Formats: sequence, C-alpha cells, structure tokens
Amino acid sequence: MLGADLDPYQPDHLEDPYPFYGKLRELGPATFLSRRNIWLVSRYESASYVLRDYRDFTSSLGVGFTRVPDHGYRYPLVDNDPPEHTRARRAVQGEFGRAAMTRLRPAVRDAATELVEAAIADGDIDAVTTLAQPLPELTIRVLTGIEPPDADMMSAWGDAVGQLGSADLDPRHAELATDSLEWLTAEGVPALPEHCLGRLIMDSGGADGRLAEDDLERLMMLDSIWLAGVDSSGSLLANAVNAFAEFPEQWDAVRARPDLIPNAVEEVLRWDSPFRSFYRRTLAPASINGVDIPADADVCVIMAAANRDPDRFTDPDRFDVTRPDAKFHLAFGASIHLCLGAPVARLETIEFLTALAGRVRRFERIGQAVRSANQAVRKFSTLPVRLVPA
Ligand code: HEM
Repeated sequence: MLGADLDPYQPDHLEDPYPFYGKLRELGPATFLSRRNIWLVSRYESASYVLRDYRDFTSSLGVGFTRVPDHGYRYPLVDNDPPEHTRARRAVQGEFGRAAMTRLRPAVRDAATELVEAAIADGDIDAVTTLAQPLPELTIRVLTGIEPPDADMMSAWGDAVGQLGSADLDPRHAELATDSLEWLTAEGVPALPEHCLGRLIMDSGGADGRLAEDDLERLMMLDSIWLAGVDSSGSLLANAVNAFAEFPEQWDAVRARPDLIPNAVEEVLRWDSPFRSFYRRTLAPASINGVDIPADADVCVIMAAANRDPDRFTDPDRFDVTRPDAKFHLAFGASIHLCLGAPVARLETIEFLTALAGRVRRFERIGQAVRSANQAVRKFSTLPVRLVPA
C-alpha cells in the first residue's frame, strides 16, 4: 500500500516528478495506490505492455483519471476500442500522412521563422507566450481550418481540455471545455472555409464517409483534433527550450549538426514528456508482468516514468541529442492509439528548432521558470530566457 508520499498528483511530484518516478519503478510492474484507488504502471516494459494490450485494458471507459460517463465527454478516437476506434481512425488517418505534412510544412516553416525572428528582436522573452503557445495555435488553425476567436481563448480552451484528464478536476476547466464545444458548434464550424479538414469531417464524415451522420461523432472528432494539439505541442516546444538552456553543449551539438534535429525532438519527448500519463480500465481480471489486476480497475500508465526507465534507456536522466534509441519513447503512446497528431507535433518542433539553430547561439535563463500545476500535461506557465543571437 502506498501513502500520500507516492501520489503522482502531489504538487512536489508534479514540479519535479523524476525522483518520484524512480521510486515507483522500483516498487514493481504495477502498484496499487489506495488513496486514489488506481494502479500505477511506471516501468517501460509494463507501460508498453498495457498500451499494446487493448483487449484487456480498454480505453472505452475513458483515458483520464475520471471515467467517461462521469465527466460526459467521449472522443471518438481516444475513448474507443476496435471496431469503433478502427472505423473512426481510418476516417482521418490519411490527413496526417506524408503528403498532408508536405502541404502543411511551408506554413509552419514561415510561422516558426517569423516568430523566432520577432523573438530575437526582443531578446529577452517569455518562451511560453512568445514561441510555445503561438506556433501550435497557428499550426492547428491551418490544419483544421478553424479560426478561433482569439489567442488567449484558444490557450485557455487547450489547457482546459488537457486538464479533463486530471485527478482533481476543477469545475472551471469542465466549463471551459463545454464553452469550447459550444463555440465550435455555433461559430467555428459555420465559418469553416471550403476545403479544409474541418469540412471533410463535418460535411463528409472523413474518408469514405466513415464517421456517423449524427453530428456529435463528427463534432467530437473535430474538437479532439482541434484541441489535442495545442497544449501538448506547446509543452514540447517549451520543454525543448528549457532542455537546451539547461544543457548548452547539447545546443552546440545541434547547431554544429542540424541533421541531429529530428533525433533531438525525440530526445526532448523522451526526457521531458508532455503528457504525464494516460489511463486504461479492466473489464475482467488481468495481469501486468506477473501482478494480478482485478476487474473494474483504473490503471494509470505513466509514460513519462517509462521514458526514464534505466532498464530501457542507458543513463536515462541524461539529455543526449545523439541517443541512438530515443525514438522508442512512449511519449506519443503506442499501438492502435499512437498519437494521430505525432507527425504534426514533430513537424512543428523540427521547424521550430531549425529556425532557432540558424539564429540563436545560446539560451540564457533570466528569471524563475514556473511549471504549471496542470496534472495531465507537464508544461511551463512561464519560461523567461534571453536569446543570444548567433
Ligand atoms: C507533443 C505533442 C503531442 C503529444 C505528446 C501527444 C500525445 C498523445 C498520446 C500519448 C496519445 C495516446 C493516448 C492514449 O493512448 O490513450 C495521443 C493520442 C492522440 N493525439 Fe496526440 N499528442 C501530441 C500532439 C497532438 C496533435 C498536434 C494532435 C492533433 C493535431 C493530436 C491528436 C491526437 C489524437 C486525435 C489522439 C487519439 C488517437 C487515437 O486514440 O487513435 N496530438 N496523443
């Protein structure tokens, strides 16, 4: 039995979770936390096993701390198992393939260049508001066709939807998530331009009309793509700046060899994963690497802990842009629910680091970086840095 000191949602553990994750991994493949009534899975082998065994560990009851029927939101992809999941995924998968990313790249590249040049002109910046928030917001706008009312609203909605997975859900976040859906229905969808992903989903039901005609499935699909990619990618971009401010020799390596950038993105995802965890539920008794799990259990898969498992990654706490197996992290999940937007997040971060690498010699800390209290996404509220020009 674990006590409060091993609760992943304790504020100290949210601030710097890695010592806590280390203790947790030592306790075994799965450990029951009675005060929250959840099973914690923190080793790479066991986390990977649960994510891949979608028959024993269902997503259909929700993937956050709160079960879907309790908070009322069901997203057609993340909250479903096959065959519904397979049908819904096929409806949109093609829009995230290589050709789609080739079409998206110029807009993302231009936006990254513009944001980075403006930030360098300022010199001293908050990397969150100046870089990490605007780039994903613009990318998602181009990707979906949705024109949000304003940037602050978009950030608040993105944050709120991320927080739906929290253990101590603030009713304000649930209200904001509802607001975003209401705005999307009343204003966002009617204003969609002719040819865009939003129209493809809403008017045609995705590829081959696979999404149900009832507007709710289409709307929830669009809503999930629209808001899943804001806070998550924003977290990754700021976590990257933070990592390179902390380890300037790694930034020197990237600047000397820009071909390392794609691997550097994987290493940031591994070393400081944006999503802390996702849940699965059991419908019948199951087992995780020899630990018996009862039916009707809530299983918290801590991917951010698995990504620092010394049994999988050599010297896992070391941030190393040349790490040969960085891409085997679980930051995007695994198997059938592997992040749909992973190619988008990778594209944004590669273009972002490329724009910075040509122009910035060093990131210097100029104030206190503050981590957000967000229980689901590990992100910064503020990250003050000086961009020293090349
Ligand atoms: C760094 C950025 C991102 C991270 C770390 C991330 C992480 C994840 C993870 C871990 C999952 C799997 C959840 C599970 O297994 O239950 C997931 C699923 C998903 N992500 Fe992302 N994501 C990111 C960006 C995006 C973007 C940019 C989009 C959309 C444009 C997006 C859309 C989705 C969707 C729709 C799913 C559900 C997939 C399914 O269930 O088949 N994500 N993401």
